[in-house]
Amino acid sequence: MGYTPEMLELIKRVEKTRPERVERARRGEDFPALTLAGREEVLSKFHPDYKQEGRRAVQVGPSKGEIYPDEFVDLLEAKSRLLVADQELEKLVEYQTDVLVIGGGGAGTSAALLASENGAKVILATKLRHGDANTVMAEGGIQGATQEVDSPYYHYLDVIGGGHFTNTPELVAALTHDAPLVIEWLEKLGMMFDKAPDGRMRVRHGGGTSRKRMHSAGDMTGSEIMRVLRDEVRNRQDLVNVIEFAAAVEIVKDKQGRCAGALFYNMETEEYFVVKAKATVIATGGYGRLHIQGFATTNHYGATADGLVIGYRAGVPLAFMHSTQYHPTGVAFPEQNIGLLITEKVRGLGANLLNIDGEQFVFEREPRDVESSCIIRECLERGKGIITPTGRIGVWLDSPMIEELEGPGTVQRELPAKYIQFKRYDIDISKVPMLVYPTLHYQNGGLQIDDRTATTVPGLFVAGESSGGVHGENRLMGNSLLDITVFGRRAGRTAAEYVQGLESEPEALTMEHVRQYHEELQQAGIDTDRVSPLVLPNYTREEIMEKQLTTHYQGGLR
Ligand code: FUM
Repeated sequence: MGYTPEMLELIKRVEKTRPERVERARRGEDFPALTLAGREEVLSKFHPDYKQEGRRAVQVGPSKGEIYPDEFVDLLEAKSRLLVADQELEKLVEYQTDVLVIGGGGAGTSAALLASENGAKVILATKLRHGDANTVMAEGGIQGATQEVDSPYYHYLDVIGGGHFTNTPELVAALTHDAPLVIEWLEKLGMMFDKAPDGRMRVRHGGGTSRKRMHSAGDMTGSEIMRVLRDEVRNRQDLVNVIEFAAAVEIVKDKQGRCAGALFYNMETEEYFVVKAKATVIATGGYGRLHIQGFATTNHYGATADGLVIGYRAGVPLAFMHSTQYHPTGVAFPEQNIGLLITEKVRGLGANLLNIDGEQFVFEREPRDVESSCIIRECLERGKGIITPTGRIGVWLDSPMIEELEGPGTVQRELPAKYIQFKRYDIDISKVPMLVYPTLHYQNGGLQIDDRTATTVPGLFVAGESSGGVHGENRLMGNSLLDITVFGRRAGRTAAEYVQGLESEPEALTMEHVRQYHEELQQAGIDTDRVSPLVLPNYTREEIMEKQLTTHYQGGLR
């Protein structure tokens, strides 16, 4: 398949400007970065978060009045999948444990490991397979100030600057302080980081970083992290019990208002059951599969905001949920890969972003929200995008440049997954550029936590993308793999300590908070048959759903 003849013709313009751009890069001459005022201007005009349409104030719950994307508010203003009478809840208890971890990605698995290391009996429940989560899809790297020229202090400043100075300071301090420890921990667990021949870590820049501190494992860093974390849980099977295909659909409390576990939906048997726990960690990831503002997404199939919904109904306020991250470089061609991530590492290795005329129009290492806005401006306002055969739009990411700057073979060595992904469609990214456009990547906000991951509900902790505050209004690359491991570890340790300090075990289970939430919905005049959490996204088009229903009826299945 590959590029069409028209696209190949346009690529000649990229090839024409390449020698001069390579020369400039060799001399260390970057395209000029925007001033702060320039950044604000492009953000306010082109970043999807700055649009008024497609968002509204949530009318119920602890963050009532806050404005979030419609797709998310729809889930908050919805009813529970199952409201169980208190006297029946106890009968649904199938498991009891000290610490229940909901979510089987990097944050949940780190939490499970640290909780067990700190003496707790642990159950990790996940709605898909253990490890089947956004973590494995993270490509470019994990930040940590491990180099002599760097320190957590500089890392802290970069994170705060990237987040538009809105971040919760104590969370940033925790993130940057623990970063070198986490890198060391992962290496001890067996992670294969990219290294120079002398054994030193290879580190690179990401957008918005003042020092090179991006540690990677090719362009499969998340997958490598998940490999060692999951292996370690397997090694501790006697201490961590993993339950797969179990979707958490509600938090359960006790009569004192403490979190006492969760109600689950068994996705195989379609039955409900309760895990009773002294402490619970929500680590279910983000909302990428809600396709906010109709954007394509880099996200895993399971990213449907489930933990946010159940945590919110349990009474935990949200932070920064007005802020969504659009990764600058999602695939815009071929059609089969639309929205998939093209790691920022490609730009870190030196590739330029170019318009239809082969011209540079942006500094490649602007923070992500600025970079995305500049791409959108180039395409939509300046009319300098490249149109695909299906009518999509994008700009070039000149990966062949990497071969010239770093030597032949670099693309395959440093970006093996990307190379294969495109090769399947007869596109050799070491020879021709990739076509890219911003794609929904990350939810900057989440449930409010403190620096030990505690929430306003006793016994309920949150880690990773489900939590909000650390990244402010814009996360920098490599800080999500860091976030999940730093706060996953903190959540596990804090939950285990909380359990040790408990004076009484949870008893008299209740879902009174859910009943009250339903009443609030009613009082707000929200009469809906929507239910949440979503559990899995629904991609069935309406006409197909109708057809399925008709077929069912014809078959007599009423
Ligand atoms: O571009 C990337 O590799 C993505 C990394 C991240 O979101 O941290």
